[in-house]
Amino acid sequence: MVTDNYLRQQPPKHAAPEQLLYRFDAIADGTSKEVPLNDGRASICLVRKNETVYAYINSCPHTGSPLNWTGDQFLTRDGDLIQCALHGALFRIADGLCVWGPCLHQRLTAVPTVIRDGDILLANEESVPLGHD
Ligand code: FES
Repeated sequence: MVTDNYLRQQPPKHAAPEQLLYRFDAIADGTSKEVPLNDGRASICLVRKNETVYAYINSCPHTGSPLNWTGDQFLTRDGDLIQCALHGALFRIADGLCVWGPCLHQRLTAVPTVIRDGDILLANEESVPLGHD
């Protein structure tokens, strides 16, 4: 989750290089995007709600399967929840908590991001779990 205070932070000295994920204004409010990571072993689900972007590893805590139905389609029809395409688990956008389904009370893996000059940046790629080898 990205907060206003977090948005104002500057990158720490000696931090790993940040990866550009997406332009903030290129994600329509209430929609989601799939963004592959550079190494191709994982992708990230980005969801924009108002002036906040939430980022999670695209992997369901139930089986590790990708969450998206296809491409950028991660959300329920009303856009209020993230829904896993395989067995339908439902996750809150704000904190990734599963509120219905086989992984009830488990969470999606949040990804640290920062928005700078309208760019959504992966804050530290080394902290991102990359799924199964
Ligand atoms: S793999 Fe997501 S609910 Fe089963």
